[in-house]
Amino acid sequence: MSFNFDGRTALVTGAAHGFGRAIAVAFAARGARVIACDILEDKLAETASLAGEACSAHRLDVTDRAAIGRLAGELTGADGAVDILVNCAGGVLGQVGRPLEEISQGDWEAIFAVNLSGAFYLSQALAPAMKRRRFGRIVNISSGAGLGISLTGIQAYASAKAGQIGLTRQLAHELGAWNITVNNVAPGFVRSNPTTERQWEAMGEEGQAKLIQNIALKRLGTPDDIANAVMFFASEAAGWISGQVLSVDGGK
Ligand SMILES: NC(=O)c1ccc[n+]([C@@H]2O[C@H](COP(=O)([O-])OP(=O)(O)OC[C@H]3O[C@@H](n4cnc5c(N)ncnc54)[C@H](O)[C@@H]3O)[C@@H](O)[C@H]2O)c1
Repeated sequence: MSFNFDGRTALVTGAAHGFGRAIAVAFAARGARVIACDILEDKLAETASLAGEACSAHRLDVTDRAAIGRLAGELTGADGAVDILVNCAGGVLGQVGRPLEEISQGDWEAIFAVNLSGAFYLSQALAPAMKRRRFGRIVNISSGAGLGISLTGIQAYASAKAGQIGLTRQLAHELGAWNITVNNVAPGFVRSNPTTERQWEAMGEEGQAKLIQNIALKRLGTPDDIANAVMFFASEAAGWISGQVLSVDGGK
């Protein structure tokens, strides 16, 4: 199945590296105009140059609702609305697993803000224009941690990703009448950034072998494996699929 996004505009958060970068590059390669957003401006510029001239870079903190509103206003006021929103910004923000007694309110709230509230604010800001055009695709990136448990034991991460899956289902029902689909990709462990590299090293040879042995396809995934699932949900081919969570983890 090949996907074509000519004439579509895709906004991707967390596009400075990892999955978000792969998703931005994949959309641009298939004809979309891409609005790549992140807080890391240098890395974001690299994404934009990899994706080519169809991609523009925008510094955006997804926890800043006012900034999201301003960007949405600029986009809809200037050269067209956003057709496809991918909420990929997230992660554990450098936190590690600790007993719950040691988790501060700030640690707890920071992970919720980026993984859950950000997806809500972006959807809230961009859905009105999607409704007017009677077309929209929202794809949220959760995690296996949102369906089961966090391998690293980070309570807020598992909870926020589970919440983001709930938000996906709820918005699918709210927005479906306007031909807007809302779906979710739940990746398994992928070595895609310095945090996952550290986690991989910490597993040791035995832990690494066990992780791979527990994957049906006996290999780790890549950012492109995740981007491919996003391309499907964003495509015309997925026009009657909404509120779904697709595990992209090599099979468990
Ligand atoms: N790599 C994995 O193993 C894995 C597994 C399951 C789920 N995920 C999820 O996939 C998504 C992408 O992960 P990744 O592995 O590509 O990680 P990553 O760290 O490479 O990408 C996350 C991006 O989000 C950006 N970001 C963080 N806070 C932000 C904010 N407030 N506003 C805007 N951007 C912000 C970061 O700068 C970074 O570029 C995350 O939501 C993560 O939770 C990753």
